[in-house]
Amino acid sequence: MTYSIIGSGNVGTALARQFARNGIPVGIANTRGPDSLAALAAELGGNVEAMSLQDALRADTIFLAIPFLAHTAVGAALSNWEGKTIVDAMNTYGVPPEALAGKASSDVVAAAFPGAKVVKTLNQLPAKLLAMDPTENGGRRVMFVAGNDNASAATIAQLVADLGFAPILLGKVSDVGVLLERGGPLVLQNLIKLNN
Ligand SMILES: NC(=O)c1ccc[n+]([C@@H]2O[C@H](COP(=O)([O-])OP(=O)(O)OC[C@H]3O[C@@H](n4cnc5c(N)ncnc54)[C@H](OP(=O)(O)O)[C@@H]3O)[C@@H](O)[C@H]2O)c1
Repeated sequence: MTYSIIGSGNVGTALARQFARNGIPVGIANTRGPDSLAALAAELGGNVEAMSLQDALRADTIFLAIPFLAHTAVGAALSNWEGKTIVDAMNTYGVPPEALAGKASSDVVAAAFPGAKVVKTLNQLPAKLLAMDPTENGGRRVMFVAGNDNASAATIAQLVADLGFAPILLGKVSDVGVLLERGGPLVLQNLIKLNN
């Protein structure tokens, strides 16, 4: 399984830190090209590779850590996303409601990535907290996971666990998306699951 992160701002960098902390290889890309990411990759060590957007899109599993409305430009890069998983770590703060047309935001994302499995997670914490070691007070920081395809949601939940979080699978984004959307009750909750 290969991984890449699109976006190297607050969230993309936080995710890259978690991959680095856990020794899981990942690519990272932005609009400005790999040279702009050289310092970050050097700081995070050999498991984080700065790459072009085009190369990042070759990964099996692609994390979107970009402004929500930018997802359509990324989705337009390929006509068929069959076999790939898109992890939607975006939020819709500032996005006009009409852009969602009453749909869960990850279902809107899915329409721009035809053939891909889309899983929503890693969007719920402020980036500073997302970047920190998820181990706290003898437990692990909770991360909710939702996806319309059970198998890919479970696979991403396992990856979320490998990154150190305590994943909680919620179900289909059309059913539970609102819980993970802007202002939803599970957003900005710093919950710790105790080991037992
Ligand atoms: N900030 C938070 O605490 C937080 C927490 C949870 C979720 N979120 C969500 O996570 C997403 C990212 O937020 P952020 O705070 O990380 O934003 P940010 O700091 O502004 O970073 C955005 C990144 O997206 C890249 N980008 C923009 N358009 C792109 C495109 N078409 N193709 C490739 N890369 C593109 C930018 O590239 P360049 O660097 O080249 O400009 C930049 O690296 C948003 O949807 C936000 O709502 C944010």
